[in-house]
Amino acid sequence: MPAATAPGRFITLEGGEGAGKSTQAIRLATALAAAGRPVLRTREPGGAPGAELLRGLLLDGAHTWSPPAETLLHFAARAEHVARTIRPALEAGMWVVCDRFADSTMVYQGWGQGADRAAIATLTGLVGLRPDLTLVLDVGVPTSLARLRHRGGAADRYESLGEGFFARVREGFLAVAAAEPARCAVIDAEADEDSVAAAILAAIAARLPA
Ligand SMILES: Nc1ncnc2c1ncn2[C@@H]1O[C@H](COP(=O)(O)OP(=O)(O)OP(=O)(O)O)[C@@H](O)[C@H]1O
Ligand SMILES: [Mg+2]
Repeated sequence: MPAATAPGRFITLEGGEGAGKSTQAIRLATALAAAGRPVLRTREPGGAPGAELLRGLLLDGAHTWSPPAETLLHFAARAEHVARTIRPALEAGMWVVCDRFADSTMVYQGWGQGADRAAIATLTGLVGLRPDLTLVLDVGVPTSLARLRHRGGAADRYESLGEGFFARVREGFLAVAAAEPARCAVIDAEADEDSVAAAILAAIAARLPA
């Protein structure tokens, strides 16, 4: 069957700061392409022109949004990303690898900042696209902090929120994964990069048969 008519797959990478999502998104996209899959790698917030505009408003620090406003901006960006980038790619038969998606809003705004989790779940349903597989990269808070220190650069807003916030985020991702075990695979991301990459490919082989 030609790739253009094969079903696409939607894979998201989730987890706290410094868990290795961006590192593994690149490795996964490379591995899938090497296996002959048509791949689109993207990330949130952003991934479409309007969503990139909103990314700037969310991340540039020029304004402090209230938690509900921040949640709505993330979902507005996500709706653009899904409509203009992800759905067309899936319809064209691509494997979409997305660095953060709706679980990050549930966890950062809901678990981390105390926004209404039921409302976030409703907005997630409104977007109407559920990942085929979500890889939850799990690391302890000390590892997160050590990796961020090692990566260097300016701390972003969340990174500056402290260890209590990081602990709530970890707890939130594990709770999301436990609530949806058919969609989510928790990956031990304390391991070295090669081992994490291998665990991700094993999860895909087990859960997304070609
Ligand atoms: N398995 C690993 N072992 C050790 N270091 C790692 C591992 N994976 C990634 N790193 C390093 O940790 C740092 C954070 O990794 P990365 O940027 O991929 O994390 P992230 O989950 O995308 O973070 P953020 O949430 O801030 O976007 C980088 O310097 C990266 O090289
Ligand atoms: Mg990243």
